[in-house]
Amino acid sequence: MTTENAVEVSNLTKHFGEVVAVDHISFQVKKGELFGFLGPNAAGKTTTIRMLTGVIKPDEGTASILSYDILREGLKTKQLMGIVPEMANAYVDLSAWNNLMLIGELYGVPKRQRQERASKLLKEFGLYERRKNLVKGFSRGMKQKLLLCMALINEPQILFLDEPTSGLDVESQRLIKDMIREFNKNGKTVFLTTHNMEEANQLCDRIAIINHGKIATIDSPERLRLRSSGLQSIEVSFDRAVSVDELSKVHGVKEAKKTGDKIRLYVDEPGVVLDKLVDFARSKRVKIISINTLGPTLEDVFLKLVKES
Ligand SMILES: Nc1ncnc2c1ncn2[C@@H]1O[C@H](COP(=O)(O)OP(=O)(O)OP(=O)(O)O)[C@@H](O)[C@H]1O
Ligand SMILES: [Mg+2]
Repeated sequence: MTTENAVEVSNLTKHFGEVVAVDHISFQVKKGELFGFLGPNAAGKTTTIRMLTGVIKPDEGTASILSYDILREGLKTKQLMGIVPEMANAYVDLSAWNNLMLIGELYGVPKRQRQERASKLLKEFGLYERRKNLVKGFSRGMKQKLLLCMALINEPQILFLDEPTSGLDVESQRLIKDMIREFNKNGKTVFLTTHNMEEANQLCDRIAIINHGKIATIDSPERLRLRSSGLQSIEVSFDRAVSVDELSKVHGVKEAKKTGDKIRLYVDEPGVVLDKLVDFARSKRVKIISINTLGPTLEDVFLKLVKES
């Protein structure tokens, strides 16, 4: 087995009754890589993370973390990883500080070190002033930040995060993304799941797209975007109703769809079409109220990938 890879997964499979949550997936994550697992609800992201982090056993297949087998050497793999699970698991009747002390002790971090690391982490996440408060009084964002502190207290080699920014405000999202990048800067590996394509674009070196328990593709964000370049679109709204049919005939528009009070135009070159739209509005004597160019959505990329396969 090569030592280049932080994660090696072969044929990993999990059923829940009739449902095949994860269906014979295979992939590798290189050491030091920031790897994203991107997919819609029920795609199998959490099930994959739960198998890799030893919470549930696969029905079939094997996986190793930093060359240790997840089944035969589960304890060793757990000592190397930090985990931020999908569901918050801080003890709500303990303070933030005591949560960190408890988890540090479980990982065998000596007392002085756990205190030093806890102080540093709480300060970095802006929670230090609230360290003595019970977690039950924490907001969702504060709880999520504390979970990240807890995942980092044992200085892991690899960090697993299941939708780390889901449901958080923009500022909290940014802080968490910065901390993930910072962790990764030191050559450590990150495995994160998200259903947010833009987040995956901003953070990841490579992205696996998972759907219905299967990996549809693995590529860098930039190459994925290029492969989906035909899915650029322009969202436009006018001061009066305009025929979608007529808009679909504007030069450079491949398809026009009504979405709420706006119309979405799928195009190859937004720049060219923007000019034509202005001409169109003038000739029809309507005013453009808003206009936005949009990249492909996760849904768009999926549809394209499904069509391709
Ligand atoms: N403990 C379980 N018991 C029964 N079915 C389960 C269980 N865990 C997951 N599943 C099923 O497996 C499939 C994949 O679920 P999973 O939680 O892995 O999806 P996900 O990609 O993490 O989705 P989300 O974005 O909603 O978190 C779903 O159909 C789900 O209902
Ligand atoms: Mg999930």
